Amino acid sequence: MRPALSTARAGGQFAATLLAATLLAAPAIAQEGQLPHPGWSFSGPFGTFDRAAAQRGFQIYKEVCSNCHSLKEAYYRNLEGIGLSEEQVKAVAASVTVPTIGDDGQPAERPALPSDHFKSPFANDKAARAALNGALPPDLSVIVKAREGGPDYVYGVLTGYGEPPAGMKMGDGMNYNRVFPGHQIAMPQPLQADQVQYSDGTKPTLDQEAHDVVTFLTFIANPEMESRKQIGVKIILFLAMLTGITYVVKRRVWSDVH
Ligand code: HEC
Repeated sequence: MRPALSTARAGGQFAATLLAATLLAAPAIAQEGQLPHPGWSFSGPFGTFDRAAAQRGFQIYKEVCSNCHSLKEAYYRNLEGIGLSEEQVKAVAASVTVPTIGDDGQPAERPALPSDHFKSPFANDKAARAALNGALPPDLSVIVKAREGGPDYVYGVLTGYGEPPAGMKMGDGMNYNRVFPGHQIAMPQPLQADQVQYSDGTKPTLDQEAHDVVTFLTFIANPEMESRKQIGVKIILFLAMLTGITYVVKRRVWSDVH
């Protein structure tokens, strides 16, 4: 009886120490810009992109982010992947003009086609810096893949603005952000509640807008994600079947021996 009791007591003490350590450590992690985990339709082996959210996110990109950020690696035709029809994609592309060479050999402009890349807001990085007080907005095509934390990080940046803690010295034109490394970001808070009007009746809260635009940006960074997951599931089913067949065959072959 005795040893069991003392083991239990030791176990309890250990658990208490662990709990205390965790509680003490938690604020430290939170201070270091702990990421929010809002939950995503596309996570997990069966996850898919919420089409409606991705379309609302495209609206946010178009109306807000595209004033500063390029999406160079995306094509307008990629928008079919979030449920836009061919006609809708054509219309989106045609609303933008891109440089071309006219019949006379001179530079000219033409409406964009679905096969064109998304048009960038600035001609080059220098032009972007000149317009934005020296800061360079990164291309958003693969931002979700390029940053640790992925969608949670981008969502965290978009919703992480606030007043700097007392005593923190902010640089000129910089904004406090809980999640951005160093907590000072040159981008002014891009999203506020009611920044856009959604045609599907969704309420444009800050969280909703950030969630939607991150869903869109994750799709743009991984347009092939759903088919990749489907193939993965098929391979696993195939392997499971193969295991079953192998097992049955093994029993048949060995049945005479036993
Ligand atoms: C007024 C111009 C402007 C607008 C509008 C804008 N951004 Fe930015 N953004 C910037 C600049 C400039 C930076 C670079 C900040 C820095 O390095 O301090 C930046 C940085 C970022 C980063 C941080 C990237 C990193 O390095 O970790 C993300 C993510 C981002 N923007 C997403 C967005 C999204 C999404 C939108 C639309 C909702 C948006 N931005 C709208 C100018 C803008």
